[in-house]
Amino acid sequence: MNKVLELENLKQEMINDKNLQLKTNLVFGEGNPDCQVLFIGEAPGAMEDELVRPFVGRSGQLLRKNIRELGWKEEEVYITNIVKRRPPENRDPLPEEIEAYRPYLARQIEIIAPKIIIPLGRFSMNFFLPEAKISRDQGKLFKVALSAGEAGGYWHVAPMFHPSAALRGNTMMKAFTDSFKKLPTMLKTIKGDTNIRMTSQSTNPKMETVKIKKITRFDKKILARVNELFLEWWAKRKYKVSSEYFKKFIKKSQLLLICDGEKIVGVLTMVKIHKLSGEGFFIEHLMIDENYRGRGLGKLLMSHAIKLAKNQRAQKIFLTCGKKNKIGHSLYKKMGFKVEEVNFYSLGL
Ligand SMILES: CC(C)(COP(=O)(O)OP(=O)(O)OC[C@H]1O[C@@H](n2cnc3c(N)ncnc32)[C@H](O)[C@@H]1OP(=O)(O)O)[C@@H](O)C(=O)NCCC(=O)NCCS
Repeated sequence: MNKVLELENLKQEMINDKNLQLKTNLVFGEGNPDCQVLFIGEAPGAMEDELVRPFVGRSGQLLRKNIRELGWKEEEVYITNIVKRRPPENRDPLPEEIEAYRPYLARQIEIIAPKIIIPLGRFSMNFFLPEAKISRDQGKLFKVALSAGEAGGYWHVAPMFHPSAALRGNTMMKAFTDSFKKLPTMLKTIKGDTNIRMTSQSTNPKMETVKIKKITRFDKKILARVNELFLEWWAKRKYKVSSEYFKKFIKKSQLLLICDGEKIVGVLTMVKIHKLSGEGFFIEHLMIDENYRGRGLGKLLMSHAIKLAKNQRAQKIFLTCGKKNKIGHSLYKKMGFKVEEVNFYSLGL
């Protein structure tokens, strides 16, 4: 079935769904179903309800002007909202309204399958990134994993301010237009898709479901999984490391694991060292599963390692970090480590 027909069927289904909240006109969305870029706002306003078209009021004009200023045509992209009927008095959509319309938006996304999704405003952003903050995260590119049934799979998402927020003041307007100008570069970045911050809604753990375990006994399953995490990483960098080396190494280390249920998704290994200056620990390896990065788990593991070292009366923690590993350097500085020599860090406890 072609996309136009699939979207038309979905629209009919929504019209026939008598349980769906709000009773004004259904503003389904418009644009090219084969688009690269999908814009998603919150809900239609008065003008949108009247004309049965999304983003046609003052905010809509601003959105459309910015699209044209990129040299694109409005008809090339697709524009819609989460909640597809106007809430009374233009109030914010209620959580239960968002929930009711959510499965339909998910199916609309699946049909259109855009290269990049631009949620406009925090309601729409929270559909993909429940923990994000619009003022902090607008204009950033995320790779989001959604579980099956909710437009399952990976999507590239770059939240932006809602144009109505941009209309409220110069600072917001500047942020809005600056983020908009990044869109063509973002599309290029997606083609390479390497350094994009990975986050996810439902396939990743919520923070409280993530457990840190300190391992003292090494069963085969743990060794196998830890090996897998590190060997994959090294293999990508063309290092040759045997799993035998790793087994031996792990046995003399203290291991901290982050687990999502049964799955080990993060590892930190540290060994006790004796220096003339006193007792300390050397953090040898730190690895977060690729699908779980950028959610604070690295920081979490490091802070547990620091606590553990303090409890064992260590006076310092040392570690090294590869020259090109920008994320590693940033993480260690955030944790209070100081550079002692090039790529060599220490933290006094
Ligand atoms: C380095 C690594 C452990 C970080 O773990 P993580 O869970 O992704 O990191 P966190 O979410 O806790 O973020 C920690 C800090 O790292 C930086 N960071 C994380 N992801 C980033 C990204 N995509 N781009 C830029 N900085 C990033 C930020 O400074 C972040 O702090 P902030 O969120 O306050 O801005 C992880 O990326 C990893 O396993 N990398 C591969 C192995 C590796 O490099 N190990 C370290 C060897 S020295």
